[in-house]
Amino acid sequence: MAGRIPDQFIDELLARVDIVDVIGERIQLKRAGANHQALCPFHTEKTPSFTVSPTKQFYHCFGCGAHGTAIRFLMEYDRMDFREAVAALAQMAGLEIPEQARDAPTESHEPLYRVLARATELYRGWLRRHPERERAVEYLRRRGVSGEVAARYGLGFAPPGWDNLLRELGDRDALVRAGMVVEKEGGRAYDRFRDRIMFPIRDRRGRVIGFGGRVLGEGEPKYLNSPETPVFHKGQGLYGLYELLEVDRRPADIIVVEGYMDVVALAQFGVSRAVATLGTATGTRQVERLFRVTSDLVFCFDGDEAGRQAAWRALEASLPALRDGRQVRFLFLPEGEDPDSLVRSRGREGFEALLAEAEPLSDWLFQRLTEEVDLASMDGRARLVDRAVPLLRRLPPDVYRHMMVERLAGLARLDADYLESVIEGTETMARPTRKAEQVDDRAVRRTPVRLAVALLLQRPALGAAVEDTGGMADADVPGVGLLLQLLEITRSDPHITTSALLERFRDSEHETALWWLATWDHLVPESGLEREFLDAIGRIQALRNEKRLQYLNERLQRGELTRDEWQEWVALKRG
Ligand code: UTP
Ligand code: MN
Repeated sequence: MAGRIPDQFIDELLARVDIVDVIGERIQLKRAGANHQALCPFHTEKTPSFTVSPTKQFYHCFGCGAHGTAIRFLMEYDRMDFREAVAALAQMAGLEIPEQARDAPTESHEPLYRVLARATELYRGWLRRHPERERAVEYLRRRGVSGEVAARYGLGFAPPGWDNLLRELGDRDALVRAGMVVEKEGGRAYDRFRDRIMFPIRDRRGRVIGFGGRVLGEGEPKYLNSPETPVFHKGQGLYGLYELLEVDRRPADIIVVEGYMDVVALAQFGVSRAVATLGTATGTRQVERLFRVTSDLVFCFDGDEAGRQAAWRALEASLPALRDGRQVRFLFLPEGEDPDSLVRSRGREGFEALLAEAEPLSDWLFQRLTEEVDLASMDGRARLVDRAVPLLRRLPPDVYRHMMVERLAGLARLDADYLESVIEGTETMARPTRKAEQVDDRAVRRTPVRLAVALLLQRPALGAAVEDTGGMADADVPGVGLLLQLLEITRSDPHITTSALLERFRDSEHETALWWLATWDHLVPESGLEREFLDAIGRIQALRNEKRLQYLNERLQRGELTRDEWQEWVALKRG
């Protein structure tokens, strides 16, 4: 299937092209010290906060938080998808995309995009011309959808009958692979969508990748969706995002709702900034995608228990994406209402008024966690900490997290520094004393893992200086797994660039944290990088040894030490 572009190729590509050229061809850059500056192309500003680093080969906007490699810049600025951006850069650099990656996706997906586009046109035409169109038109009219909004969302009509699409388009193989035609054993085939209002689902570039189809009136299932296909992945898509960006490329906020009709009805009332997940729980990837175009998300859910559970999953998925300046809020709807019915009954102003009162994620998180605990008792407060720590741990180490920790500290009546170290998993560690460690412009603790990762990102060749990573995996400190992954990559390829390293973690759970660390002003001078780095690694190893020794001591006291453990105990005691 997907002929993945090999990491090595991406590495080489990013080493060959210069991000300054790529961006400089598109916007006006000005030299400022070691970096280049510009007015940010991703948000409106008067003074430049968009910087491009030639050494790290990435861009970063201190105003809106936009950041990325040359690949990401093309994806965002020229609205390319990943492959297209890679292909464009490869052409600039005079590199050929490797054979195995070339033969697959783009080309073999072409027939699918083609039949999906033609199906969209057919459905739209049938809504205007089919002999049985009247019921569909009447249905949309009753729901208050105007011709203009129907056109913007490309709504259509799949007439009754088993083979309308199949007969018109003929390309049975592509139709089956695109999920539009169902093939039965014995070779019979029929249209998946019959007698339904059709909602085309588009990708970021406007290509139709699948459909949702609603019955006219009653009937089961109410909505029928395209199955997973090579081009349609439910967990990643967002209904309405393309249409929203056509209206406004940088909306101040985006409303996330549950239904296709909610998106359309809100647009009908002039609230053209809603998207819907495709009948699945919201995932971190979707949240990250939305945060690339806005800094404020409002999730709308039913006020019932199912809605609350869905909201909680959305909260958990949002945590890793919550860097400074980004905001998630929740709007719980009154019993029996959805955004569609609300905007209809209260109008645009009424709905906007509800939105303005949406609850910040932090309020809701603590409200939910404290609901069933008795804060007056010590046990209750301990339970609160138990429940909150794993959640706060998912937040990037940032001012926002710091504020959440302070709030938890207040509720639990604990020292915030202590809580911070519990979250870092470093509570047994000696307090850092050196000067560089007392200064921190972002009020974030400088932990050995964090420092090691930041320095390694800045100078990937440092990885080769680590002689032995043994045992570090057991250090049981948050982030060690990520550090080890970075060490593995940089030790096997010391020449990898910062941007290529970051690109390896694109769309992973670590993406946000890595970007944060790559732009962190850690104040270590260029000349001291290696020493600080090895020192940080040494401290992680010491921490691991300390924990191990503690464990062995306990076993020793119970008389349970094996021979090997005994030797290890002696070695640790000496070391
Ligand atoms: P709802 O049942 O809340 O539908 O499902 P709705 O959007 O309010 O629909 P209307 O107003 O009756 O037309 C919300 C979402 O859940 C998915 C769809 O994505 C839908 O938009 N869903 C629902 C399905 O996939 N299948 C179903 O049978 C029902
Ligand atoms: Mn509805």
